Parts: sequence; structure tokens; C-alpha cells
Amino acid sequence: MREHGGWMADAPPRPVTVVTGSSRGIGAAIAEALARAGHRLVLTARDGAGLEAVAARLRELGTEAIAVAADLRTPGAAESVIARATAEFGAPDVVISNAGTAPADKIEKTTDAVLRETFELHVGAPLAFARAAAPAMKARGSGCLLHLASTAGLRGFPFTAAYTAAKHGMVGLARALRAELAPAGIAVYALCPGFVDTAITRQAAAAVAARGRSTADEAFARMAAQNRIGRMHTPAEVAAAAAELVARRPDGCVYDLDRDVPGFVD
Ligand SMILES: NC(=O)c1ccc[n+]([C@@H]2O[C@H](COP(=O)([O-])OP(=O)(O)OC[C@H]3O[C@@H](n4cnc5c(N)ncnc54)[C@H](OP(=O)(O)O)[C@@H]3O)[C@@H](O)[C@H]2O)c1
Repeated sequence: MREHGGWMADAPPRPVTVVTGSSRGIGAAIAEALARAGHRLVLTARDGAGLEAVAARLRELGTEAIAVAADLRTPGAAESVIARATAEFGAPDVVISNAGTAPADKIEKTTDAVLRETFELHVGAPLAFARAAAPAMKARGSGCLLHLASTAGLRGFPFTAAYTAAKHGMVGLARALRAELAPAGIAVYALCPGFVDTAITRQAAAAVAARGRSTADEAFARMAAQNRIGRMHTPAEVAAAAAELVARRPDGCVYDLDRDVPGFVD
């Protein structure tokens, strides 16, 4: 076989993979792990410059990568991203629904607007991506949809009513999609890490510090202590788990990473 940009020229075509929320954090780490595994990447988030920087890094690894800036709470955004991916590389083989925000407040301050926006991003966007990507996956008889969920999709955490409810919705959506799409050859996963050291957790710790309750470092340490593994996950270990599920497509749906021995809940 001939090597071409790190990929064998007469090997099967590289999978086409969309990663949402890939301008930084866990999404960028997953995109890099999949680039190293030979995927062609379609990156999407709102921050076009951040996406371009990640895409440039992936191209340096020898793969193809494009950036499609979009606010995924906008109706039609997922369909536009899938259309752009299809025009550039062909219909996506894999969609990683990772984009998210993590609003945190006590229940008295959790507004309907926050709840609605959180559900739009964590449930509405993955549903729209599944709706747009599934027809080509069904026609091919293979595909993979992976939701970056959370242990907040498996159990309750204080001061996160909107986020915890939305992550339970994201996990439930994965279960429903798997029940519907597995017979067509499409694997569906909800990957559930505990707290991960990214901008979301750093901002949450800073917000606690701003309210004067403790330092940001103390707040960060308290979050890490809520993980059953007793420490923060790293974006790289979440990305490695996602890449493993995408590559092996094991039987199962909801994967709890916050355990000494990570594994499927169901
Ligand atoms: N960090 C944790 O402790 C943790 C734990 C469990 C699960 N998770 C989940 O992991 C995922 C990634 O989180 P992270 O920690 O990597 O956070 P992060 O560093 O803040 O990254 C979030 C990503 O989502 C994108 N995004 C946010 N709102 C968007 C919108 N309206 N439209 C399109 N893209 C949007 C952001 O890009 P733009 O701002 O450029 O749009 C960014 O690329 C989230 O679903 C989160 O719930 C995180």
C-alpha cells in the first residue's frame, strides 16, 4: 500500500466525522483523537476562529478538516452542517454531539429561558443531527452517533437543575435512537464522564469564587471530589474513550466513564 498523508492510498476511504463543540475542550480533543485514527473531520461551534485553529492543527496531522461556524440552537443549523459535510467529503459516517454549556444556579434562579436554551443545545441539537444524518447511514447499513453526556445524565447534582435535566434528556435520546436505529446498523452511545478539566469547570469554579464563598482552586477541588474516581477527568481520556467506542462499536449504549473500571450501564 502507498502512504498518502499518513493514510494508505488504496485503503478504504477515511470515515467522515462531524464533531460539534470542537472549537476547544473535549470536542477539540475528540477531533484530534479521531484525526489520528484516520477520520476526515467536520468541526462546528460558534467560534469560527477557534475552529479554524483546531482544523489547522488536524491538517498538520495529515488529515482533511473543515470548520463550519454555527450556533447549534438555531433551527436548521444541524441540517446545514450535515449538508456542508456531505458536499465536501460525502455523507458523514459518525456524528459526535458534544457542544454544550453548563449553567449552574440554585433552583430559584433557574429561569425558563435557561432551561429552554440548555435543552435546545443538549437534546434538540443531537436530535436534529440524528434526523439529518440517519438516512444516509441507514442506506449504507452503518453509522455511529455518539452523545457527549455526563454523570449528570445518570444521577442528580445540586445547583444544576437545567443541566442535569438536559443531560438526562440527552441520555434518554441516545437510548431511544439506539432502540430505533441499531437494527439498521447504526451504533448510538451516550458517553458519561464526571467533571472534566476544561473551560466549563474552570468558569464554574471562578463563578463560585466571584460569589465569595471560596477560592476558585477550592471550588475546583470540590468538583473533582464529586467524581467517583476522586479526581478530574482529562479531555484526552474522554477523547480516548470516545475514539474507542467509535472504532470498536461494542454492544451497549450508556457508558459510564466515572468508575475505576469504566463500562456500560446499559
Ligand atoms: N467539563 C466537564 O466537566 C464535563 C463533564 C461531563 C460532560 N461534559 C460535556 O462535554 C461537552 C463539552 O464540554 P467542555 O467541557 O469541552 O466545554 P467547553 O470547553 O466550554 O466547550 C464547549 C464547546 O461547545 C461549543 N458550544 C457552546 N454553545 C454552543 C452553541 N450554541 N452552538 C454551537 N456550539 C456551541 C463551544 O464553542 P463556541 O463557544 O465556540 O460555540 C465549545 O466548542 C458538553 O456537552 C459538556 O456538557 C463536560
